[in-house]
Amino acid sequence: MTLSIVYSSHNLEPVQYVEVLLQLSQNFLLCKRKEMTKSLKERVNNLMKKWFVEYLVPANRRFGIKIVTISDDSKTFILKLPYKRKNLNVGRTVHGAAIMCLAETVHGVAVLWNFDPKNHRMVTSTTYLQFIKPGRSDLFVKFGLSEETVERLEQVLSVKGNTDVEYECQVTDGDGNLVAILKNKYHLARLGYNKDMRIEVGQSSESIQASYKIRNEVFFEEQGIPMELDLDGCDHKSHHLLAFVNGQVVGISRLTPIENKKAILSRVAVKKEYRGFGIASKIVKASLIQAEKLKVRNIEITPHEYLREFYETFGFKYIEKAGAVTFHQLIKMEMPLC
Ligand SMILES: CC(C)(COP(=O)(O)OP(=O)(O)OC[C@H]1O[C@@H](n2cnc3c(N)ncnc32)[C@H](O)[C@@H]1OP(=O)(O)O)[C@@H](O)C(=O)NCCC(=O)NCCS
Repeated sequence: MTLSIVYSSHNLEPVQYVEVLLQLSQNFLLCKRKEMTKSLKERVNNLMKKWFVEYLVPANRRFGIKIVTISDDSKTFILKLPYKRKNLNVGRTVHGAAIMCLAETVHGVAVLWNFDPKNHRMVTSTTYLQFIKPGRSDLFVKFGLSEETVERLEQVLSVKGNTDVEYECQVTDGDGNLVAILKNKYHLARLGYNKDMRIEVGQSSESIQASYKIRNEVFFEEQGIPMELDLDGCDHKSHHLLAFVNGQVVGISRLTPIENKKAILSRVAVKKEYRGFGIASKIVKASLIQAEKLKVRNIEITPHEYLREFYETFGFKYIEKAGAVTFHQLIKMEMPLC
């Protein structure tokens, strides 16, 4: 809790002291009330989720699966499958289907607690359950998603919209003996994810600055390309494509119109942690659309040699080798546009 008003005790009349004290205590109470409302909301929310897992999932209700512990940070859960007649085989050991239901539910619970259920869907695609020993008592499964895992999943979802996740969990009895191991693969999707990603084209100095920030990170810091090579004086006559994910620029390209209805595509770069999600492909496609809008007839690019196949997928043709920058061999490629 922080109080934003700072009072100086100098030159205050006694009545002013009282006013100050009153205001401070009001602020304090207001903050406390906000904190209490927030924690109450969280508790009600958690109770509703618990109710959903235990009563609205028919199989969980049927087997009597209960969430017995939720860690303070809501990241780790323990679920219990009761040892009761309805869950047993004729030999009085816990039925495999009940064990499967217990172990398979746990990741759904972890996802439910970490991702807004209103705009996420989760579907199991493969399950493998290994029975280690018969269950002869209440059974438990403990599971949690670490903060790093949640962050990584958030990132993938905001860029790609969906991902396949694999996890393993262990079913134990009350004494901690291993009863079964479940390996599961499921598909997690964010509904309407593409709202999170957009590409903008700009020519303003803000666009140049945003582009320059990524160039600095990728070309200078990561690839060790000298900064002077970037200063070709073309930024102000170029169109800068900026790919935003969650409001943050994560990828760029630059399209520079030159004489004879030609243009040069350059500075294609994506922040390291956002690579492999198809962002560069979207940027290149958007650059081609922008070139068409500008009635460009031919696009040139001078990429790293190892990206030849990548650019060929868009229709660029290899022309020749084009020298090297630091340790990077460059090539010249071209593409005619109708
Ligand atoms: C090259 C770069 C822009 C690709 O961005 P990205 O968003 O990861 O690209 P996409 O996800 O759209 O496409 C990935 C494709 O790029 C190609 N690619 C990326 N890095 C590659 C490499 N080191 N070697 C060969 N191909 C590579 C592959 O075809 C890859 O497809 P795959 O994942 O199916 O193998 C990004 O790695 C980057 O910024 N690199 C550093 C800067 C740079 O070299 N820019 C190129 C200047 S021409």
